Amino acid sequence: MNSNVLKLLNEQIDKEGYSSYLYLSMASWAEGQGLPGIAAWLYAQSDEEREHMIKIIRFVNERGESAIVPGHKTPPASWKDVPTLFAEVLSHEQYVTASINNIADACLQNKDYTTFNWIQWFVSEQIEEESNAQGIMDYIRHMSPNGLLLLDKQIMKMRGEE
Ligand code: FEO
Repeated sequence: MNSNVLKLLNEQIDKEGYSSYLYLSMASWAEGQGLPGIAAWLYAQSDEEREHMIKIIRFVNERGESAIVPGHKTPPASWKDVPTLFAEVLSHEQYVTASINNIADACLQNKDYTTFNWIQWFVSEQIEEESNAQGIMDYIRHMSPNGLLLLDKQIMKMRGEE
């Protein structure tokens, strides 16, 4: 595998792993705030990010390279309020999308069409992840000042856990 593509994939393993811990910390905070729907959404999101990390680890190893399993910096432990938290989710996903696009770009520049084909799954996944976070931000923008518990119920429904 091209060394630059490999380096970017190993960095992406770290980013997906950190995303998992970031959302886990957010889930724990939301649970402590008495918001079970938002907590459930974030716990599930954290699990998905861990799956993304493992998907990349296994791909790198399948291609005959050695994936690097990272340690992570400690994520924040608290947020000012729920809108601030979801604004961070959206901007974090936009950051991940830019990172995935950068890998796709490096694949083309280095003629690694196998990895380019494989990374398309992540390109599509990021459309969904950004759209979910954006949908919640839209809801927050239009909710009444006392709408937090309703938002919590709504998010619980999005995960089908009600
Ligand atoms: Fe795996 Fe939400 O990026």
